[in-house]
Amino acid sequence: MTEATYKPKELSQILLDADTLQKRIAELAQELNRDYAGQELILLCVLKGSALFTVDLMKNLDLRVAVDFISISSYGEATKSTGVVKMVKDMEEDIKGKHVLVVEDIVDTGLTLDYLRRVLQMREPASLKICSLLSKPAHRKVELPIDYLGFTIEDYFVVGYGLDYKSFYRNLPYIGVLDPTLLDD
Ligand code: PRP
Repeated sequence: MTEATYKPKELSQILLDADTLQKRIAELAQELNRDYAGQELILLCVLKGSALFTVDLMKNLDLRVAVDFISISSYGEATKSTGVVKMVKDMEEDIKGKHVLVVEDIVDTGLTLDYLRRVLQMREPASLKICSLLSKPAHRKVELPIDYLGFTIEDYFVVGYGLDYKSFYRNLPYIGVLDPTLLDD
């Protein structure tokens, strides 16, 4: 597979390279294949950050899967959570009585998922679980169970593989650390 290998000068290091990500995603998919065997699953991709993760994860699933998208925003242009979570775009599927797996790129404060879980629980799914590629516990404000987790990371500002800084770097096939001197808040 040919993928971009360039490293923008704004990155101080590559934290998780593309191979490491893809291996772990395949492992997570195997867990899901076991746990949801024989069941239908709705994957809920939380835009925009988890777009790449969702696509790679679903390609590894040997299940009857529907995918839907929701857009939640808590950061805007800021690098730290504003604490104000809002729904920008709701999902389209009716999840009542369905198995739902929320797919996130990162859990940081936990505010986004805490809000989303409460909204989705009111719609009475058969089950509601969370799959996140990354967890950054350093600034956690709300404890919540991450049922399927790729990696726990230190307190870095990470970009790439869906994650952005001011809308850029989402296209990188790896997770990199943004040079902290560039962060402006
Ligand atoms: C990011 C990320 C998670 C959330 C995690 O989304 O994709 O959804 O923040 O942070 P939290 O645990 O502190 O709530 P963001 O609001 O930046 O939107 P984006 O995915 O479109 O970049």
